[in-house]
This record gives sequence, C-alpha cells and structure tokens, in this order.
Amino acid sequence: MISRNDCLALDAADGLAFARARFALPDGLIYLDGNSLGALPRRTATRVADTVTREWGEGLIRSWNDAQWIDAPAKIGAKIARLVGAAGDEVIVTDSVSVNIFKLAAAALALRPDRRVIVTEAGNFPTDVYVLQGLAALTGIDLRVVERDAIAAALDETVALLLLTQTHYRTGAVHDMAAMTAAAHAAGALACWDLSHSVGAIAVELDAAHADMAVGCGYKFLNGGPGAPAFAYVSRRHHDGLRQPLSGWMGHAAPFAFEGDYRPAAGIAQMLSGTPGVLGMAALGAGVATFDGIDMAAAAAKSRALGDLMIDLIEQRCPEIGIACPRDHRGAHVSLSHPNAYELCQALIARGVIGDFRPPDVLRLGFPALYVRYADVWDAVEYLSRVLASGEWREARFAVRRAVT
Ligand SMILES: Cc1ncc(COP(=O)(O)O)c(C=O)c1O
Repeated sequence: MISRNDCLALDAADGLAFARARFALPDGLIYLDGNSLGALPRRTATRVADTVTREWGEGLIRSWNDAQWIDAPAKIGAKIARLVGAAGDEVIVTDSVSVNIFKLAAAALALRPDRRVIVTEAGNFPTDVYVLQGLAALTGIDLRVVERDAIAAALDETVALLLLTQTHYRTGAVHDMAAMTAAAHAAGALACWDLSHSVGAIAVELDAAHADMAVGCGYKFLNGGPGAPAFAYVSRRHHDGLRQPLSGWMGHAAPFAFEGDYRPAAGIAQMLSGTPGVLGMAALGAGVATFDGIDMAAAAAKSRALGDLMIDLIEQRCPEIGIACPRDHRGAHVSLSHPNAYELCQALIARGVIGDFRPPDVLRLGFPALYVRYADVWDAVEYLSRVLASGEWREARFAVRRAVT
C-alpha cells in the first residue's frame, strides 16, 4: 500500500517542486483540471495590470512599438517553440485553435492541389472535426473520419492532409507523431498535429518528427488564462509557397504600407490574420514564462509519474472505479470511469478536489508538473474513497437535478 508519507517523500525529492511558487493557487484546494484551464501564474496579474495602466493608459498607441505589442505573437511563439521541438521562427501566436485548424488545413490543400481528401480520427476533439466539415462544405473536398486503428489504411494517393490530435482529450492516449507523420508522408500527404493536450504536458518534437503543421492551445498547460490565444506551427520546409485563406492585413508582407492587394509576409508571420489581442497576449506571455528554465522531458516524466500514482492508488483503494486511459503512451491526464462519474466529480469539487467530467462516464484528472504534488494525488484519492464510501455523491446528483429543473 502506498502511504501519504511515501508521497510526501516523493514531493521532498521532486526537482520541479520549486515551480509551484510560480502560481497563485487557493489554499486547501487540489486543482487537477489544468488540462482544461491552467492555474493562474503569480506574475499574470501584475503583467496584465502593467499592460493596461502603463502601456495602454500612458503609452496609448505608441505602445504598439514602445512596448513591442506588435512583436508579441512572434516573441511568445518563439518561446513556445522550445516546448514543442521547433525553431523559433516556425511558431506564431494567433487566433484560436479552431481558426488555426481552418487556416492550416486550407493551406495544406493548397500545397497538395491535386488531392481532395482530408483524414482525421473519429472521436477527435469535436472542434477539429467540425472545422474540417466546414472546410469540406466550402471547398467540396472529402473528409474521411476514421477509427484510430484504421487511420494508416485510410492514407492513399488521394489524401492531402492527415490531421490528428496527438494527445486525446478524453483518453489521454498519445499518437506516435513520428510514425504517423511518416505514414502520411509515405502516401504523399501532409501531417498536421493538434497539440492542445500536449504542449506543456509532454515532450513534443515537431521538427524531429518531420511534422508539417501544428496548432496548440494557450489556456491549458501553458497557463495563458481563459480563452488565451492559440499558436500555429509550420515547418520551414513549407514557408515558401505557403498560402492560408484568412489573408488579413497582419499577415501581409507590409501591413502598414496599406497596399491594395494581399502579399503574404515571409515565413510564419503569414499565419496572422487580424490585430492580435494585446491583453490576452500579455497573460499568455506570463503563462508561457512559467516554463522558463523548465526541461520539458523532466516535466513530462513528473506528470507521467503523478498519473501512474493516481492509477496505482485507484486500483488499490477504489476498485469500483475503472481506468479509462492507457498505462503507456499517455499524456498528462488520467481518465477514470464510473457510471456516476458526473456525480462523483461534483461531490469531489464540493470537497475541494477539482477535476472534470466528460460524457458519458469519464472523470478526467490532469497533472501539470509545475504545480501538482504527489501528496495532492494521495489526498484526491482519499477524498474519492470517502465520497464513494459515504454515498454523498447521490446527493450531488439530486442537487444537480434540482439545479436543472
Ligand atoms: C484537442 C483540442 N483541440 C481544440 C480545443 C479547443 O479549441 P479552441 O481553443 O478553438 O476552443 C480543445 C479544447 O479543449 C482540445 O482539447
């Protein structure tokens, strides 16, 4: 049996324990939902306040240059690049994941003009599929949505793009990026990766895997705040000849020349469309800075160990709970299953353990390495076993029923 003291010993030996001080977490709360909305970094409030009062309030429009607002998408993108195994000039911060999927998928179609098919995985995060459905309706291309084990077989000479989410939002299962990218390339297709549950969670190596394109989320493991801007990656191999369809002025070669016709900026800057949201950029910059000096391999190993600890403790102490995620090749969250997962999730939140529910029966718990402790995992399982033993989750169900009627 693993004891709480064992977990405290793991925390005492944890080489990343210092990073928790970078966050303003409420006392007594166990936060296991950083895979959905990252915790608030300590520096964010002052950084955003400074952007508002000094840069905007006093600098006014001069701050586009003086405070380098105009450079924020590329500068923050270059910092994210280190976390995903890319060169600094291959990543830019812009728009949302959904919008970037549209831009990149359309750009991929333009790079493979003789091909009319996009392949993605059934059960992928809905926005990925919805956006591709919209693109298919607009362009007349075919969208093949196939089961995980049928992806390789779906790649043939008609396919322009394989779009996959590397770490599955529900199960946490991680695709072998290098192998799937190689399979796409063998068929002559490009590979685009959604890194929303990978960036800041596992060690991603986009360049080494020869990935063509990628998108990722700013508000999960990057701690950029609710609705933080997302990022887009395009391999240098494709910078020449890249054309994305939302050809706005910020992606123009000379935005302030106000020319009559669009000319794409060189390189990744072309992925910009409109004016960046400066306040969101300020918060994202503070979020990404929580990774300063952090080795992603070490962070990934810690998240992995925290998740393994959760699975071991659940198996030891809560046998009625199912394990709905793989043991190996898993991201930084764990999925547990129970027919009353929703009620259990609510009852845990009432006890100060925040995770989330994904229908129909999954309780999802995330383990960002920068602020979750081994003892938090032990305590969360302790609370879960008490919730199960007391039956109080049944009251949570009644409370929910009352709330919706
Ligand atoms: C895999 C994946 N892609 C995309 C998104 C969200 O995209 P957006 O930032 O456009 O809302 C999520 C959100 O949870 C996600 O898990």
